[in-house]
Amino acid sequence: MISNFEEAINQLIFQGYGILDNWLPEGLLSDLENSLVSRLEADYFHKAQIGNGSDQQRIGSVRGDEIFWLNENLAVPAEKEFLSIIGQFTDYLNVTCFAGIKSFEFHYAVYQSGTRYARHKDQFRSDDSRKYSMVFYLNRNWKAGDGGELMIYTQEDVKIEPVFGRLVFFKSELEHEVLLSNFERKSITGWLKDLAPVEVIG
Ligand code: OGA
Ligand code: NI
Repeated sequence: MISNFEEAINQLIFQGYGILDNWLPEGLLSDLENSLVSRLEADYFHKAQIGNGSDQQRIGSVRGDEIFWLNENLAVPAEKEFLSIIGQFTDYLNVTCFAGIKSFEFHYAVYQSGTRYARHKDQFRSDDSRKYSMVFYLNRNWKAGDGGELMIYTQEDVKIEPVFGRLVFFKSELEHEVLLSNFERKSITGWLKDLAPVEVIG
């Protein structure tokens, strides 16, 4: 995995974002896709919100995805392996770039046809602990016209097709947008944070 890690870091350093195909093994991606679909069918997903804490709102026209948060304790083997690779990547970032990442959080996301996520930043007004955003796409048959591309607004506007096996990695302070999706758009999205995980007691 180390060469993959370095490629992601190089792209991030030189352009503020990285686009990496096949960063994770194909077999693991397939297993994650299957787990996502089973959890969706079992009704584990809920409508995503915008904002945080008491600021949270659900406005479907702004953010239309449904999500399921990955949880180490309830994870199936593919999810455990995924979280373990993210942990290794985080350790690598901390050692090689002094990134200061102390925790991470990931969810599955599904955008049903007709939904989008308007232009936004992933850092909240009251909490900038999200440092890096990572999105893994799980859409095998994506084709032009299906929509759901990710736009990243940096020096230039970058449009990224959400195709199977692709990872997009960017600084969470960048503005970005999910264009209107005309299909069931599946991904795993998450954040590397500089805040220690909250201890759950009792
Ligand atoms: C998000 C987001 C991008 C994508 O969930 O905050 O911007 O391509 N996702 O799914
Ligand atoms: Ni976002």
